[in-house]
Amino acid sequence: MREELERIGQQAVNEISLVKRESDLEKIRIRLLGRKGEITMLLRGLGNLPVGERPAMGNLANQIKIKVEKALAERKQALGSSEREEVTSLDITMPGRENWVGGLHPLTRVTQEIVEIFTALGFQVALGPEVETDYYNFEALNFPKDHPARDMQDTYYLAEDVVLRTHTSPVQIRVMESQSPPVRVVMPGRVYRNEEINPRSFTVFYQVEGLYVDRDVTFGDLKGILVAFVERFFGLSVPIRFRPSFFPFTEPSAEVDIGCILCAGKGCRLCKKTGWLEILGAGMVDPAVLAHVNYDPEEVSGYAFGMGVDRIAMLRHGIDDIRLFYENDLRFLRQF
Ligand code: DAH
Repeated sequence: MREELERIGQQAVNEISLVKRESDLEKIRIRLLGRKGEITMLLRGLGNLPVGERPAMGNLANQIKIKVEKALAERKQALGSSEREEVTSLDITMPGRENWVGGLHPLTRVTQEIVEIFTALGFQVALGPEVETDYYNFEALNFPKDHPARDMQDTYYLAEDVVLRTHTSPVQIRVMESQSPPVRVVMPGRVYRNEEINPRSFTVFYQVEGLYVDRDVTFGDLKGILVAFVERFFGLSVPIRFRPSFFPFTEPSAEVDIGCILCAGKGCRLCKKTGWLEILGAGMVDPAVLAHVNYDPEEVSGYAFGMGVDRIAMLRHGIDDIRLFYENDLRFLRQF
């Protein structure tokens, strides 16, 4: 039995020293020291020995058990530390795994930036519904039924007198109905038009509307606020010009251009060789509109403006196709 024990012990230590994987160490442990393991069985068999031999043999068996356990533990540690060495030799030049947490859509950002410029200048913010009645979208804004000006905007009708709003101007009416002058508000939001889809136009887009009504508001005030806006949004050196135009709800009306930010006014493809880019429509609120909301045109006057957020965002970021904003390709969105 003594030889048997010593042979098992020696063989185990040799075998353990050659093991390469932790799972193989476990197999050896079970084979020798498990419930039915070789050493375990020998220890159990001690009872069959003559009483005089039991202590010496028990002692030896225990020593061998301890020796095997120690060899297992040492080998396990050696394997573990070489695994750790592999870990420290990792390639630290490998690109990290990016944690993408999401962000604001570029149109949301530009809308917020525009709104913040006006709130810093004393404007409140108001919102209105995207599903509008004919009255707010057209009638109260001085577009009579069958007036050709309605053709300027290809309208989606949901029912006879219910439309998807074609502009944010109806929010002007809702604000003036709900409060008396002075009012000074900007009204951001989404608008809809049944337009041909191409790089310059889409069926959905964003506008920011502005309105100021008070005693003695003049066209000079309108120019002042829009110059301040352009300076803050596009920069001090960008020139601005007002061109006469027509809108049913303003008189006089103007369209506002800025000097082309791509060619600095020299003329290029973006500005169609004119050196100018249109960014908004504006004008003095028509007295007929003030009368619709029971403001007295003899007492108060006002200006209004409306700008296309998509176009302004395209100019700001050098984007040449409006559809990119609505396709929501992450490769595009992640650039902002
Ligand atoms: N609502 C006009 C449009 O969508 C833009 C506009 C022009 C708004 C003149 C105004 C304004 O407030 O005064 O084309």
